[in-house]
Amino acid sequence: MIKGFIFDLDGVITDTAELHFAAWKELSDAMGWQFDRELNDSLRGISRMDSIKAIMDHNKVDLEPGQVGELAERKNKIYVDSLEGMTEQDYLPGARELLTHLRNEGFAVALGSSSKNAVKVLQRLNAIRYFDFIGDGNTVAKSKPAPDIFLYAAQQLKLPADQCLVIEDAEKGIDAARAGGFHCVGIGPEERVGHADLRFDSMGEATLFEVKSHFKDLF
Ligand code: G6P
Ligand code: MG
Repeated sequence: MIKGFIFDLDGVITDTAELHFAAWKELSDAMGWQFDRELNDSLRGISRMDSIKAIMDHNKVDLEPGQVGELAERKNKIYVDSLEGMTEQDYLPGARELLTHLRNEGFAVALGSSSKNAVKVLQRLNAIRYFDFIGDGNTVAKSKPAPDIFLYAAQQLKLPADQCLVIEDAEKGIDAARAGGFHCVGIGPEERVGHADLRFDSMGEATLFEVKSHFKDLF
């Protein structure tokens, strides 16, 4: 039986995936690095430091660890500044409805994000209240595709993995959910999240009714 839901944040609850893209693009342009949407898509779900290393690898750039840290910090500043204008209006369509519905039906709900800025984003959205537990980029050491963040969140919800459903927009997020033995819903195109148990193009389609209809035997 499914008793809990674990949500990714960026690209699931709100469109910060786009703000992460813009911030990496600004840094890459300043550094003369190539950066496009395809590369950005491969970074969905992975930590800030893993992301900058992937961008540098892609550009065949090698820098001192201290410098890499500074550049990651620079990107973060651009990203955090871009959160300034975020309000309660900035949920992805369908996300707030799903969270509300789950709470009303008594499901346990956790966040399982790789972002160290997750609490800040949830505060801007006034979304803290929907969660029994908030797992973010500070919670576990290994980021997605390792299952650690989801396993930790499930433990906090006092549920085994197979009683939880993970909602993710990242290829590496679905990898993480599967590696941990979770049921999972992918949000996005087939090429990115086609390996999820169930996939929707957008959050707007991911209603509790649709999810229940698919996982019939589990509700
Ligand atoms: C999420 C996003 C990634 C981002 C990561 C770290 O998983 O999908 O694009 O790089 O969080 O975010 P942070 O806010 O800690 O830099
Ligand atoms: Mg995401």
